[in-house]
Amino acid sequence: MTATDAHSKSVTAVFDEYALLPDTYYTNPNLQIPIIAESYSKFAGLIAFFLYSAKFSGRRPVHVDVGSGSGNLIDVMLKTVPGPDYIGIEPSGAMVKLSRKRFADSDSVQIYQGSTSTLTDIVEEGSASVVTMHNAFHYVSPDQAVSAMSQLRAILQPGGGLILSAFRPDFDLEVLARKNIRAVYSDKFQEWLRDQVSIPPQLMSYALAIENLVTQFEGGNLGIADFFKNVAEYTSRLPKECLNALPVRLSNGLISSMPLEFQLNPLVHKYSREALTSLLIPHFSIKSIDDHYDGSQHLVVALAN
Ligand SMILES: C[S@@+](CC[C@H](N)C(=O)[O-])C[C@H]1O[C@@H](n2cnc3c(N)ncnc32)[C@H](O)[C@@H]1O
Repeated sequence: MTATDAHSKSVTAVFDEYALLPDTYYTNPNLQIPIIAESYSKFAGLIAFFLYSAKFSGRRPVHVDVGSGSGNLIDVMLKTVPGPDYIGIEPSGAMVKLSRKRFADSDSVQIYQGSTSTLTDIVEEGSASVVTMHNAFHYVSPDQAVSAMSQLRAILQPGGGLILSAFRPDFDLEVLARKNIRAVYSDKFQEWLRDQVSIPPQLMSYALAIENLVTQFEGGNLGIADFFKNVAEYTSRLPKECLNALPVRLSNGLISSMPLEFQLNPLVHKYSREALTSLLIPHFSIKSIDDHYDGSQHLVVALAN
């Protein structure tokens, strides 16, 4: 197996596991922390522009989402612009299964198992009005990126839009997690703790220990590895009924997904602006490369030549 194949296999294995966790933001839109929800909305606005442009020029509007995961972006699109054809392409078999189930009642959505290496086997060349990779291009390794770009271009109509986000070289999971931890461990948790009289003292002490870990991590007094490890340990001691009684963000799979997030971190390839520009230039006219996602990602908008 080549290093590239091994990389793809490791990434897919993590997303296969993710798809099986109950109540992560992959399956429950209520659990999207603000930077993720804002990112979907930003994409939705840009996608809508290309879908309406296709419609007004008499072409069938088609959006292809590559690395579609559990289908969150497609779900946002169905609510924003119903009518076009939405196609999701995703390498993880478990994510494919999840999203097929999610869209079982929707005639305008098709989900295929595939990746940036197989786009032209799945989608007719020149047929898409807009192609996206939301929070996914950084899983394409640099030695696959040249052919990935030509595949993304091949399925687009000339003038069609490519929208993708990718982690920048200065992306640091720990910094990102510290900045957003209160969005996961809601401040309401503190209020909730104050009001509890009926929970057994032992369980309350675990809940308080979790709160204490969050405070320490947020303040920079605890490293990310210890934070994940200790939170997972205390969470596992709390019975399900108790977890369910905690405020929603704390009571769900976000906690169990943290170790997976940590596993993903070394599998992320970071792309500089220059690297992205040279990958895009043979096939696209670059419209913009902006800061995105708390400044830790690039947001690329480009037009197929
Ligand atoms: C962080 S998730 C984002 C999922 C979805 N786009 C979203 O934002 O909800 C990244 C997704 O990219 C997929 N992926 C990884 N490598 C890929 C590749 N080479 N081609 C297409 N998708 C890929 C993963 O399986 C995973 O589902």
